[in-house]
Amino acid sequence: MAKQTPKTSTKAVPQNGADKTSACRIALIGFGTVGRAVAKILCESPPALLQLTHICNRNFERKKQDWIPRDVIWTDSVESVLQSDVDVVVELIGGLNPAEHIVRDALDCGKSVVTANKQLIARHGPDLLQLAASKGVQLEFGASVAGGVPVLPALRTGLSGDRLHGIAGILNGTCNYILSRIESARIPFSQALEEAQARGYAEADASEDLDGGDARAKLAILALAGLHARVTPESVRARTIRAVDAVDFDYAAELGCTIRQISRADLKDNNSLFAEVGPCLVPADSPFGRVQRNLNLVLTSGRYGGDMAFLGAGAGGDPTAVAVVSDLMFVAQGLSAMKKEAARHVFTPEISCDFETAWYLRFFVRDQPGIVARLARIMAAHHLNIDSLLQKPGFEKSSLPFVITLEPCRDSMLHPALEQMSGLEFATRPCLCLPILR
Ligand SMILES: NC(=O)c1ccc[n+]([C@@H]2O[C@H](COP(=O)([O-])OP(=O)(O)OC[C@H]3O[C@@H](n4cnc5c(N)ncnc54)[C@H](OP(=O)(O)O)[C@@H]3O)[C@@H](O)[C@H]2O)c1
Repeated sequence: MAKQTPKTSTKAVPQNGADKTSACRIALIGFGTVGRAVAKILCESPPALLQLTHICNRNFERKKQDWIPRDVIWTDSVESVLQSDVDVVVELIGGLNPAEHIVRDALDCGKSVVTANKQLIARHGPDLLQLAASKGVQLEFGASVAGGVPVLPALRTGLSGDRLHGIAGILNGTCNYILSRIESARIPFSQALEEAQARGYAEADASEDLDGGDARAKLAILALAGLHARVTPESVRARTIRAVDAVDFDYAAELGCTIRQISRADLKDNNSLFAEVGPCLVPADSPFGRVQRNLNLVLTSGRYGGDMAFLGAGAGGDPTAVAVVSDLMFVAQGLSAMKKEAARHVFTPEISCDFETAWYLRFFVRDQPGIVARLARIMAAHHLNIDSLLQKPGFEKSSLPFVITLEPCRDSMLHPALEQMSGLEFATRPCLCLPILR
């Protein structure tokens, strides 16, 4: 890391009430939405073992708050923080660079690290855990998935006695907000996205959310913590929600279902993992079907404990800060939520998306005789069994939506048929193909 001349504001003058000899000294790096909310908890309701000593942010002068005790040192130099006597560095700047260097340097210096950074942990989690173990310090990342929902601590402690084989979740609040708005108001996707952006639930460029990049990074972290599997986010297939139309909710309702972005990972045997992220049909009265707006839900399946559910606010400064402070309390008590041996026992499975499910295929076609017969011939040639055919009245014949549902088959059996169907001249839009999860 480049040498910097530290600009610090005030000298450390002990002011807050924590016992300075035994308290765990904490440096926040990044004083944005989450950093500020963490500082608020540490200053308003300071847990006995935690003492905020440093806040580091570029151009920190504009960030200063009068509710931060005067003995907290403000600085823009990460290096001065690492050279200080802090025990724990809390990385809350986000992104990969320079966050990765900061976290590695902190661990190298013998500081424990708490982070909420999903991109960092999804890509470098196993290596960073090993580095932490080799240095005898802790790396905690409970806020990196599902914000304030304590699913990661549960996977790494309360459920660690089970043998988990499956994890599925609604992990992206933006997608869930958009899909549940289309569902409740039957508005077009573009209007639901604009609404989400206006309310601050979606960024101006929401591609990471809509196209599944955010959710698959979180799924990779859940797979690491719960299934002890090293999964790179890019190895997980992600399907976009952009093609989901209001009419798909009408057809889904006829099937007793609704549509949600689901991230799922299932261990198949010792060396393979089925994993995928994308919109799916789920029963309307199921736990997934009932999740509205920007909430998150994670379901786990274990050999001994069966199914468990975790529901709550997946984002937001305050809920995320609770997860960060809880991690800090783990560190202060010397309780590693990620057992050191877990870092060593991570395996690298083959990743596949070849789930066997029933399927929903929605076509928009220019109406003409013989369409269903041609589609049925293609299905039969690929040994796919049609379960039902749904067609709602009242649409223009120039672009008519209808749905075929298929009996369960593997993804790999269906895809050659979809490729063949993509060339049909009567299709006015690409076929939308969604798994039906029962
Ligand atoms: N917000 C949520 O609801 C939420 C939920 C779960 C997890 N997280 C994760 O929490 C982390 C923080 O998110 P956030 O929403 O708090 O982000 P944020 O509001 O953008 O805050 C980031 C802060 O870090 C500062 N910063 C950026 N680069 C820096 C650098 N190189 N050196 C020093 N300071 C730097 C920024 O300063 P400037 O003001 O100069 O930009 C800003 O104050 C991210 O990893 C995010 O994915 C957030």
